[in-house]
Amino acid sequence: MSPKPLTVCLLFGGRSGEHEVSLRSAASVSRNLDPARYRQVLIGIDQAGVWHLQARAGFRRESYGERLELVPAKRPLSVVPGGGLAAGGRRIAADVVFPVLHGTFGEDGTVQGLLEVAGLPYVGAGVLASSLAMDKDKTKEVWRQAGLPVVESLTLRDASPASVEAARAAFPLPVFVKPSAAGSSVGIRKVSTPDELGPALAEALRYDTKALVEPAVDAREIECSVLGNEEPQAFPPGEVVPRHEFYSYEAKYLDPQGAELHLPAELPVATRDEVMRLAVAAFRAVECSGLARVDFFVEKGGGRIWINEINTLPGFTNISMYPKMCEVGGLAYPRLLDRLLELALERHRRRAGLLFSRE
Ligand SMILES: Nc1ncnc2c1ncn2[C@@H]1O[C@H](COP(=O)(O)OP(=O)(O)O)[C@@H](O)[C@H]1O
Ligand SMILES: [Mg+2]
Repeated sequence: MSPKPLTVCLLFGGRSGEHEVSLRSAASVSRNLDPARYRQVLIGIDQAGVWHLQARAGFRRESYGERLELVPAKRPLSVVPGGGLAAGGRRIAADVVFPVLHGTFGEDGTVQGLLEVAGLPYVGAGVLASSLAMDKDKTKEVWRQAGLPVVESLTLRDASPASVEAARAAFPLPVFVKPSAAGSSVGIRKVSTPDELGPALAEALRYDTKALVEPAVDAREIECSVLGNEEPQAFPPGEVVPRHEFYSYEAKYLDPQGAELHLPAELPVATRDEVMRLAVAAFRAVECSGLARVDFFVEKGGGRIWINEINTLPGFTNISMYPKMCEVGGLAYPRLLDRLLELALERHRRRAGLLFSRE
């Protein structure tokens, strides 16, 4: 007798700037979940943050692939503390949730906290790792503390003349100015002259209360998929070659030829192995679980390796780097989904066995 199918709840859309990417990632996840093993419940989150239970999966074909449609629902959705999810007061059966959400209010620990309160297992990092990884400033602090190589940076909270002067004095130009918590390269500028510093700081501070100033590294951009809970495993890295001045929002999403992907990346064996080792170390240092894509800079001259950032819910379309790197490493997309769901349940079971008060 085959086991009872598991009900997987896909959360997609969301309030972040990466709403559209999420619709595409979720279409790929939905298509690749083996119907013999899984039932699906779909919940779309609109740009105002309202959750809508979908009667069925609506796919829309587009030039670059497929996306899910988000159909407004009448019955209000609620999260029941300790009791999962409900629509119009009726419980929604869900064994595990896959938040296919990127960026703010999805990848940053807020939805993870809600799912913890609901008592539901979910794919990916918990509250701590999700919210830590969203804050580039704090993540770098933790990595530095762990002895991991990160690019120097200065954190600023306003664009006052004193801050602009501090930024100018910190590093020789060019520098990168970026919001500490954002994504998709929004609010990021490469600054080559001193008079661009003030406007770049002001721009970054539109997206977060903290901005980072970093020396510009002349580097190849290498990314590495990590999968697992207590024993995370890294896959052979890939390379992104942006055709723009850097891997900007335009290069990522607007220009179909914005970047070339190389899978696997052509790297000396020692560099490849070091990237994989550092990816696992970076994952562990932020207490991550499930999955993450760790992004690196490998200096063009000396080959020096820097960890740039960690994404706890990376792009997940079937042409996205994360699943592609897993596939090149021998784990096909549908099997990757099986593994992520297993890891979610495993983590939930492990935590359910913990004591939360004195016995
Ligand atoms: N210090 C840096 N040196 C060189 N390029 C950088 C630097 N910081 C950012 N970039 C460029 O900007 C892109 C986006 O920056 P990143 O820190 O990865 O933010 P995001 O979370 O938006 O992806 C990088 O992929 C890279 O092309
Ligand atoms: Mg990045």
